[in-house]
Amino acid sequence: MSPARPDPEVIFDPATYVEGVPFEALARLRRAAPVAWVPETPVLGWPAGPGFWLVLRHADVQSVLARPQLFSSARGATQIRDPATPQALGYVRQMMLNMDPPDHSRLRRLLSRAFTRRAVSQLEHRIRGHARAICDRVFTGPRGECDFAKEVAADLPLLTLADVLGVPHQDRGLLFDWSNRVIGYQDPDYAASAEFDPAAGTPMARRALALRPVPGSDGSMPDPRTRDGMPDLYAYAHLLAEEKRRRPGDDVMSILLAEADEDGGRVSAAEFENMFWLFAVAGNETLRNGLPGACIALLEHPGAQDDLRADPALMPGAAEEMLRWWTPVMTFRRTATGECELGGQVIGEGDKVVVSFTSANRDEAVFPDPGRFDIRRHPNPHLVFGYGPHFCLGAHLARTQVRALFEEVLGRTSTLRFAGQPAYLRSNFQRGVKRLPIAWTA
Ligand code: HEM
Repeated sequence: MSPARPDPEVIFDPATYVEGVPFEALARLRRAAPVAWVPETPVLGWPAGPGFWLVLRHADVQSVLARPQLFSSARGATQIRDPATPQALGYVRQMMLNMDPPDHSRLRRLLSRAFTRRAVSQLEHRIRGHARAICDRVFTGPRGECDFAKEVAADLPLLTLADVLGVPHQDRGLLFDWSNRVIGYQDPDYAASAEFDPAAGTPMARRALALRPVPGSDGSMPDPRTRDGMPDLYAYAHLLAEEKRRRPGDDVMSILLAEADEDGGRVSAAEFENMFWLFAVAGNETLRNGLPGACIALLEHPGAQDDLRADPALMPGAAEEMLRWWTPVMTFRRTATGECELGGQVIGEGDKVVVSFTSANRDEAVFPDPGRFDIRRHPNPHLVFGYGPHFCLGAHLARTQVRALFEEVLGRTSTLRFAGQPAYLRSNFQRGVKRLPIAWTA
């Protein structure tokens, strides 16, 4: 028998997550110390890295994310694995996600202002309409079974994003493939995703697709976290911005492009293209995984389904608990800009510091009986959407999607149950669901 692998190694290995999240390993580490050292062993063909500090407790995760001067998003960007070259680092740093104040603050301010009250209320209205249409399609008729991940959860985030970005609906499949390539690069099923049918898209989509990289002889694609890896996305963003400047719509990106900041500065073409990249990825995969995760919570807890059907007013609180229980984004990374102490542990200048939302959201110091799924949990100060200056810009839209979708699903069913084994994504970053067979009674 081979000896048990050390907890940090298990937690780091993307293959672990195909079987499920190693909650017990995280709990052991969290109880032992506020931060754990995790060696970066070679995985999936990536070379070994220098290792990182994993921050496990709720209070420490907040404290890291609230101090961008000390725990920088820009210095080494926000993914565990370092960008391969200084050029690749320079490239990802053009995105607000990988900026620190004050650079970050300018873009954040412009973008926050583009989410006007009117634009947001229109988006909410459309989300409810999309959720209704999707459920009409799937839950009406004699079928009684489907793959929730593919047939229910995949389209709502795409339709919502298309509305936010002003992307014509027939092109939304492009967003699906792009975010698969970026987020799913650790999983062979997703890394070369090409589901979109150009014949169904606009001329803009066809022009962009002509630039799509082709997989190498081993099936691999160029690194999606470089500009060269995503030429089709950049071409599309460029064409879209030209179109929006010519003929502005009522979408957030049209508003953004028309805005000027205090000094009269406008969003540049490069800034727009990078924001498009960030939204296309951040707003899609997260929910494509979060919605099936929320469904699994309900499948495993039929009593919660009954309670929600009996009292739909419980939905807002239940949605928070579904998000906490699943925690679709498991980690984010910062880099220490100076020597400091975290929970008594000395952290060196330049060390990678990785916050575990998965662990923080099960911290027994904040959540009594944290493994329990309790739709009446109150308070529920989970960190699903992060904390501090980079707090998720799409949190409101994400919450609206969770609530709208499950109101529709529960309103049309009297029972929901598993109809087979779910399949999980191979990734140590997103807690992903690739297949979720469900059955229902109308
Ligand atoms: C359940 C769904 C979602 C989850 C779990 C999630 C999670 C997160 C987290 C944890 C961060 C913080 C990253 C950091 O601190 O470095 C973040 C940032 C961000 N999210 Fe989300 N997100 C979700 C949905 C969305 C949606 C729907 C959109 C867009 C419509 C979006 C857009 C963004 C953007 C633009 C940022 C960067 C903000 C900044 O750097 O200031 N997210 N998200």
